[in-house]
Amino acid sequence: MKLIRTENYKEMSLEAGKIIVEKIRSNPAITLGLATGSTPKGVYEYLIHDCVANGTTYREAKTVNLDEYIGLPAKDSNSYHYFMSQSLFNHLDINEDHTHIPNGTAANLEQECLRYEELINELGGVDLQILGIGQNGHIGFNEPGTPFSSRTHLVTLAQNTREANSRFFNSIDEVPTHAITMGIASILESKEILLLVSGGNKAEALLKLINGEISEDFPASALKNHNNVIVIADRDACKYI
Ligand code: GLP
Repeated sequence: MKLIRTENYKEMSLEAGKIIVEKIRSNPAITLGLATGSTPKGVYEYLIHDCVANGTTYREAKTVNLDEYIGLPAKDSNSYHYFMSQSLFNHLDINEDHTHIPNGTAANLEQECLRYEELINELGGVDLQILGIGQNGHIGFNEPGTPFSSRTHLVTLAQNTREANSRFFNSIDEVPTHAITMGIASILESKEILLLVSGGNKAEALLKLINGEISEDFPASALKNHNNVIVIADRDACKYI
């Protein structure tokens, strides 16, 4: 893993944005793996700005998102479908049919997991995966204890994940209890991975990632088994390392 330290969130977003744009420009038909949460928002703003200002085009690009809540329809403002449309897709020249997110309202959720895995294969795999990290080390919605061999699957969200994400909802009771997520094995098949870490509340997780063992108790540690991971972390996140 290569670690790039930045002064603050803005610089982290800029560094990541520059790397992503360079990849898109050298491979316009790229398949990007995308994440939700607060962390990548600045990167998405950078991509939008760059698309408008510098004309980087997404006409041939494809995207696959890591995860989605179970039970929230795409039009629900807390769904990851909604988040991605608002934060990124609506502002790029990307073909909506080329953007993929697990369907958390599918009638048959097990079937949906299989469909999603097949879809990623049909796209030829993810070229560049953008990741955030949960305070407990989760990546996507792969909570501690998830086997490293996992593929796209259904998960019960950890209580601390629901609490952390409740800031987007009116109350914790509204936070879904389940989600569908790409598995750790699915994520590790990405050719390159960019992990973004920002803020003092992620400092312990980053410390564990850098200095800790590789263990299923800490899902992000699986990234150490991948040979092309760049971690971009701001000063607050780096306070223990
Ligand atoms: C969520 C998402 C993850 C994300 C994580 C951190 O639970 N499923 O993909 O990386 O939380 O979110 P944030 O960036 O808001 O801290």
